[in-house]
Amino acid sequence: MAVQTLPPGPQAARNILQIIQLMRQFQADLLGFTSKNFAHYGGIWKIEAGKETQYMISDPDLIQEVTVKQADKFHKSADYVDPDRGLARFLGSGLLTNDGEFWKRQRKLVAPAFHTKRIEAYAQTMVEATQAMLNNWKGKHTLDIDDEMMRGTLQIVVKTLFNVDISAEATRIGDAMTALQHMVGSNSVIETFLPLWIPTPQRARSKKAVSDLDEIVYRLIGEWRKKGEDNGDLMSMLLLARDDEGSGMSDKQVRDEAVTLFLAGHDTTANTLNWTWFMLAQNAEVEAKLHHEIDTVLEGRLPTLADLRRLPYAEMVIKESMRLFPPAYFFGRVAIEDVQLGGYTVAKGTSIGISAYAAHRDPRWWNEPERFQPERFAPENAENIRKYSYIPFGAGPRVCIGNSFAMMEAHLMLVMIAQRYQLRLSPGQVVKPDPLLTMKPKGGLHMLLQERNVSRQLPVDSYQLDAMAVGD
Ligand code: HEM
Repeated sequence: MAVQTLPPGPQAARNILQIIQLMRQFQADLLGFTSKNFAHYGGIWKIEAGKETQYMISDPDLIQEVTVKQADKFHKSADYVDPDRGLARFLGSGLLTNDGEFWKRQRKLVAPAFHTKRIEAYAQTMVEATQAMLNNWKGKHTLDIDDEMMRGTLQIVVKTLFNVDISAEATRIGDAMTALQHMVGSNSVIETFLPLWIPTPQRARSKKAVSDLDEIVYRLIGEWRKKGEDNGDLMSMLLLARDDEGSGMSDKQVRDEAVTLFLAGHDTTANTLNWTWFMLAQNAEVEAKLHHEIDTVLEGRLPTLADLRRLPYAEMVIKESMRLFPPAYFFGRVAIEDVQLGGYTVAKGTSIGISAYAAHRDPRWWNEPERFQPERFAPENAENIRKYSYIPFGAGPRVCIGNSFAMMEAHLMLVMIAQRYQLRLSPGQVVKPDPLLTMKPKGGLHMLLQERNVSRQLPVDSYQLDAMAVGD
């Protein structure tokens, strides 16, 4: 049989009208459009628009090839690194939007802030920030939970990594982040084709967002430089770091890393929690088991880091929520040389879209994939999960640097909130995923707060995960 050089895929869009039509399809229902094609063509297919070809993959073996085995043959895609139209417009050359030797150097520099020992010290700050958020909820009956999760996780990343309290500026930073999210994820036909020098309302909003962020971050850098002390936080590490020639990072590079961590470090965790509340509100049995675990282990007190290993069901709930709604649902690469992949030749310059969303819902690897079933991640079941069919944090050298940080944060926040409140969807609210840079609930997540009675003290011996596990 002759070797095919291109995988199958929908009809190529050759002229401008066809390209616009294709973009509209993407824009209208990105998840539906890609899922339909994955179901039809399998774990690798292509999309052609004009001279551009993009491969889409969800097959675990191919994900492993691209992110691990042949990782050195790929760079991040233009969505990240293009200085005019990619994420780099806003983040500059921070960790997410960098490649090659420079990325390696920066990753080495930032990594110590995420070592296990270091992260453990952040638990107390995470608990305090969540407690402050819950204090603000007193007397309220409905809230946009998306707003709350975004604000809470932003406070945490800024306080833990940069050792500053941004309560005063949280709204400005939060608004700026939201504007950037919309700009990056919009895929809008107009934004794509209109020359960059033409101002549009969206461009004006993103320009303001960047200037707000710059003003805040450069001021913080100025204050740190003046003090010049090593406070043990990430900002001190970035400012004091020296390369082999003895030169340090410019203010611009420090700014780029800081803004990258603001963005990458809060929105993803907030969305993990959003989808967890959404699923809990519709799965009473799972919610009851979660409450039982929390009440029995914590007996009404605040959690500590040491408690987390005794709250395994809560962690399983988070993992299952990230399976159905991976915040980083799609991430891209570009081949920097010709590569063999799944029997096809990926020509140099071709983009590859890796769909965590499709891999996580593939019936070949997941039994009843649409069902919310945290027990999939119980230790006895987790070992049967197909490798690389579950990639909420990516894989290989570019794997999320904040993986453990995020899991600890989501775990602490989930148990603290579920200990105090039961959240229900506001009547009439239809929740739909909005696949922007990360996957968000479209229009926010409006929920009713029902205070739980946490004074009930349960003997800790009554805690037994086995007794709580539900069979299929
Ligand atoms: C549940 C929360 C999170 C999810 C689902 C998530 C997901 C991801 C994924 C999938 C990637 C890899 C993208 C790719 O390969 O192209 C990534 C990279 C990254 N993440 Fe996260 N992330 C989360 C939380 C965090 C946190 C809390 C931080 C920092 C405080 C963070 C910082 C980063 C950075 C800097 C990178 C780029 C790493 C590199 O390329 O060297 N993330 N994240």
